[in-house]
Amino acid sequence: MEIERRLRGAMAKHILVLTGSPRKGGNTDKLAEAFMAGAKQAGHTTEKFATADQHIKGCIDCQTCFSKGRACSIPDDFANLAPLLEKADMLVFATPMYWFSFPVQLKAAIDKLYSFLIGKRPLKIKECALLVSGGVEDETKFDGIVQSYKLIAEFQNWQDSGVVIVPGIHDKDDVLKTDGLKRAETLGKAVC
Ligand SMILES: Cc1cc2nc3c(=O)[nH]c(=O)nc-3n(C[C@H](O)[C@H](O)[C@H](O)COP(=O)(O)O)c2cc1C
Repeated sequence: MEIERRLRGAMAKHILVLTGSPRKGGNTDKLAEAFMAGAKQAGHTTEKFATADQHIKGCIDCQTCFSKGRACSIPDDFANLAPLLEKADMLVFATPMYWFSFPVQLKAAIDKLYSFLIGKRPLKIKECALLVSGGVEDETKFDGIVQSYKLIAEFQNWQDSGVVIVPGIHDKDDVLKTDGLKRAETLGKAVC
């Protein structure tokens, strides 16, 4: 894969994977690792940022982003994430579905993407992907989170490079019983 990419003259990308699950080593972490393994095989560099290990408060729309020497004026762990976002060429959201949407830990980080707009500091991210699992069997029940992701991508002018939905899983290791990890790895390998 890496050789193919080099022959095409494509540049290696730096991929930031934002995870949203507070359950360590669970389905989301496994999906994220599988994607990252695929992307590494394709010659890219990857980095994982677990939003649930950080304390990121909600955006308060104070509109003072980047005016106090940091991305967000509220002193929280978004300060750890902002430099990683500035470094990334691609952003991957790896998350459980909570109440048909993003878990609050990941949503707080997404909300603070606003700081780059207000601060007029455009990110160099060009593409994104979504890896999402949930307990429900019916894939149409993922429409809300998928549509939300797609609208974020469209608004940011990021190419949507793919969505992996893994339905019908509840327990920590359930993803191992599905083809989800294979699909996540394949998506990672396909990043060009
Ligand atoms: C607070 C909470 C809300 C959830 N909401 C949904 C939901 O709306 N739809 C669904 O299918 N699964 C829901 N689930 C199940 C998780 O999405 C699912 O178990 C997921 O695979 C967990 O991933 P993890 O192991 O990475 O934490 C919810 C789980 C929790 C804890």
